[in-house]
Amino acid sequence: MSGSFYVTTPIYYVNDAPHIGHAYTTVHADVLARWRRLHGDDVLFLTGTDEHGLKIQRAAEERGLTPLEWADTTSARFREAWALIDISNDDFIRTTEPRHRVAVQAFLQQVYDNGFIELATYEGLYCVACEAYYVDDDLVDGLCPIHQRPVESVSEENYFFQLSKFEQPLIEHYEANPEAVQPESKRNEVLGFLRQGLRDFSMSRTSISWGIPLPWDPAHVTYVWYDALINYATAVGFGADPDQFEYRWPVQYHVLAKDILRFHAVYWPAMLMAAGLPLPEHVFAHGYLLVGGEKMSKTSLNNIAPADLVPEFGSDGFRYHFVTDLHFGQDGDFSYEGMVARYNADLANNFGNLASRVLNMAVTYCGGVVPDARAEGPLVAHAAIALDAYESALGELKFDDGFGAVWQLIRDANGYIEDSQPWKTHKAGDAAVTAAVLGDCLEALRIVALLASPLIPRAASALWTRLGLTGAPEDARLPDAAVWGAVATTGNAVEKGESLFPRIDVP
Ligand code: MSP
Repeated sequence: MSGSFYVTTPIYYVNDAPHIGHAYTTVHADVLARWRRLHGDDVLFLTGTDEHGLKIQRAAEERGLTPLEWADTTSARFREAWALIDISNDDFIRTTEPRHRVAVQAFLQQVYDNGFIELATYEGLYCVACEAYYVDDDLVDGLCPIHQRPVESVSEENYFFQLSKFEQPLIEHYEANPEAVQPESKRNEVLGFLRQGLRDFSMSRTSISWGIPLPWDPAHVTYVWYDALINYATAVGFGADPDQFEYRWPVQYHVLAKDILRFHAVYWPAMLMAAGLPLPEHVFAHGYLLVGGEKMSKTSLNNIAPADLVPEFGSDGFRYHFVTDLHFGQDGDFSYEGMVARYNADLANNFGNLASRVLNMAVTYCGGVVPDARAEGPLVAHAAIALDAYESALGELKFDDGFGAVWQLIRDANGYIEDSQPWKTHKAGDAAVTAAVLGDCLEALRIVALLASPLIPRAASALWTRLGLTGAPEDARLPDAAVWGAVATTGNAVEKGESLFPRIDVP
């Protein structure tokens, strides 16, 4: 065991049904979690749902439900979506759970006792329809920009979090820890934002009831973002289990999209500093997925659910696409046509063909028994290069590069078969050469199955079994087990099996 590795996704709002944008983040975090498990880390992978605030209260009211009834239904849909695409989260947090209320109240009390929360009078403009505050510049012809209705002048007592006190400490933190916000372009954005200056913000509301009451003044409920961010501490026992919290905190990775980077790289670290707690090791903000191509161009991304794509592409096909299609960190288009093309090229052709050719030939030419893998075959160097590139790319969350290296090994093995033509050597009665080539290819496949397992766990596991290996790829340990010849396979029984990735033909 190499120690604790804690990784999180955002907790998703339950006013929306799960869609491929949410899945995009969640699959990447899952691949990271699975990859760290392969290293023997004691992984805690957390996802969940954000269930307080006005948005949820309203979505429930529109449906004639209580907020909790509505949250129960939608939160369950997230769990189902994640099961469908084989998300291996160890915990699923809901902000309406009692454990979260305990943690939020303990956290708030700590920040309050440390003197970073104060009561102040908020004076400004208020639109009751929006239940939101405005300043003069927001108004259109003196009216609310959303409802075109008059706004009211209000004077309300709210608790304010003294964010401004953390401007300098945060700048110093990010200057001293360049890895804390990734990719680098996002770190620069955060520093730019901090240098513009931070303003204190109101962290309580008396106008809404759907939230967690402040422990020292229960007439106020906690502002939804203040409550939501604390989920990351709740799940590791903050306020309830100090030993667990000590062991798990700080978190290694918060994975999220750029839309909520400020909350994670400014508000949350400031809250942690105010509570006297260590800051997250890394906040990784990826880009935004948009919809392109023809078939779905009229569909908004929010209407494409994992369940719309999994029946056709399978869970592995879904995962493969979203992880390898875009450079993690940049924006990109999702298109159905692109997804089919990539599936056919990389999974059906490259990967699927290599597996079926090699397994078929091993059954036909070698009696279904794995021959010796040569210690010095031509694929040995390719496999070593793939492993190195994979390990360093995944270490930087460059998923497309990491799996690109594995697919390069697949192409190398396919090319090696083309060059050495084992069907000819077999026909010519050269059993030793035939066995040598196939032994090498089977070993390359073992390494491919292992390295690809965090991404396409079902196919990797099926291939593992067909190669006559015991257990599952998850039982092996990286990097040693992915070294050429690391496992004795000679004599294992090989099976052909069905096609791992049947081609998809689009009319
Ligand atoms: N509830 C807050 C997060 C609180 S975390 C303490 C929230 N929820 S959300 O449901 O709106 O989720 C936003 C996140 O969903 C993004 O940061 C990203 O992880 C994911 N995505 C939603 N749409 C997306 C795309 N179109 N593309 C990529 N990621 C997307 O904000």
